[in-house]
Amino acid sequence: MFEKLKRHWGVNGFNLMLILTTFAFGGSLCGYAARRLLLLVNIEKGLIWILIYLLTVTILWPFAVLLVSIPFGQFNFFKGYLNKIKKRLGGQNLPRRSVAIFASGAGSNAEKIIQLMEIAEKAGKGSFKVNLIVCNKPTAGVLSIAANHQIDTLLIEKEQFLNADGYVAELTSRGIDFVVLAGFLWKIPATLIKAFPNNIINIHPALLPKYGGKGMYGDKVHQAVIAAGEKESGITIHYVDEIYDHGNIIFQAKCSVEQNDTSATLAQKIHQLEHQHYPEVIENLLQMQNSR
Ligand code: GAR
Repeated sequence: MFEKLKRHWGVNGFNLMLILTTFAFGGSLCGYAARRLLLLVNIEKGLIWILIYLLTVTILWPFAVLLVSIPFGQFNFFKGYLNKIKKRLGGQNLPRRSVAIFASGAGSNAEKIIQLMEIAEKAGKGSFKVNLIVCNKPTAGVLSIAANHQIDTLLIEKEQFLNADGYVAELTSRGIDFVVLAGFLWKIPATLIKAFPNNIINIHPALLPKYGGKGMYGDKVHQAVIAAGEKESGITIHYVDEIYDHGNIIFQAKCSVEQNDTSATLAQKIHQLEHQHYPEVIENLLQMQNSR
């Protein structure tokens, strides 16, 4: 259940604990305040009292959780959470974000993300639309995936990406406002990070902060995990900052590493975890961001 909540809200274990604590304290505070208020008015205990109590609790609850969320450092989460409820109750559709997926390889993660978007779209839901696939390799499998799903592609070139404007003008002119890295192997330049603050995320095939950094990608990561005799590996979804595999962690999931695992079998387990979680974490993260 906790794993599901972490995914659903796009938060790590520590923040989940603070959020649940805020719910608990906020709920108790609002229950207590409602009782004190009703004691001030002289209503006989009975059905009417219960109905007025429930109504008072409902009215006080948002204020109570917001208040309690401040000392727990969860104000932004609860502001977004309450806005989402407000918009849902008002029958409003949340805006959709325009996403570019950056990928250098086969693109299996990109495909899963696109598939989730298409399913949500058919159901008239979804917090994002993949409008562009950005790739640095003309032979990469992800380009055929883009073609199959009729998504525009942009083939980028190293000099402009790393040393000129990082394709910021190109991305913004296409209305892109969120970047998802899915097996993209070049370092993201500072210009791009500045243009999309807190709006670039990455997936790494290990449990960061271990086995990350320059040169740690794909099979190399799995080989290092096995060589170190680790019993567990997993995936890390995190914000991108100017240091390789370093930004704030949004979500992690684990799998076991058995004695007979090779880098290929471990890669399979990791891919399975990635496919299961990455699309949903993106959907939930953007839902939260959109409702702020
Ligand atoms: C994924 O396993 C992803 O975690 C990894 O590349 C693979 C891409 O697979 N990314 C890194 O290693 C980044 N440091 P895919 O092309 O099938 O989505």
